[in-house]
Amino acid sequence: MKKIASFTGIFIFCAALSFGCNSKQMALSEKGGIWEVYERECQKCHRANGKGSLIGRIIFKIPDFTNTKWQDNVSDSRLIISVANGKRKMPGYKGKLTNEEIVDLVKICVRSYYPPLDK
Ligand code: HEC
Repeated sequence: MKKIASFTGIFIFCAALSFGCNSKQMALSEKGGIWEVYERECQKCHRANGKGSLIGRIIFKIPDFTNTKWQDNVSDSRLIISVANGKRKMPGYKGKLTNEEIVDLVKICVRSYYPPLDK
């Protein structure tokens, strides 16, 4: 009986933990503003954590937004052009999103995964 109680305890603990993780992942649009657009348009490929899926990274060369080397080597203007015009497997968003949205997606969302060093 004691065993069952402790198993129940562990189960509830795990359920609470995974619920906690899920609600953390769902928080993107809760941040409001441009994050609602990221969640709607970008998250399916780039994921909430900005890393993209492993398979996506290997096959489609989805960049890992949390990679410092990558962040340091790409300029805002290049990323804005890529999102506007599309890049290989990524669709272009010019016309679908406003210019301001595209700029904010890069400057706020993409850069948030690793704040660029002051240069
Ligand atoms: C259909 C999947 C898909 C969607 C949706 C998508 N992307 Fe991408 N994204 C990619 C892929 C694949 C690449 C890698 C392109 C390459 O280098 O070949 C990429 C690359 C990028 C890059 C790097 C571009 C560069 O110049 O290296 C940025 C920034 C980016 N995406 C932002 C976004 C934003 C912002 C959105 C939402 C508006 C978005 N992506 C939606 C698949 C996607």
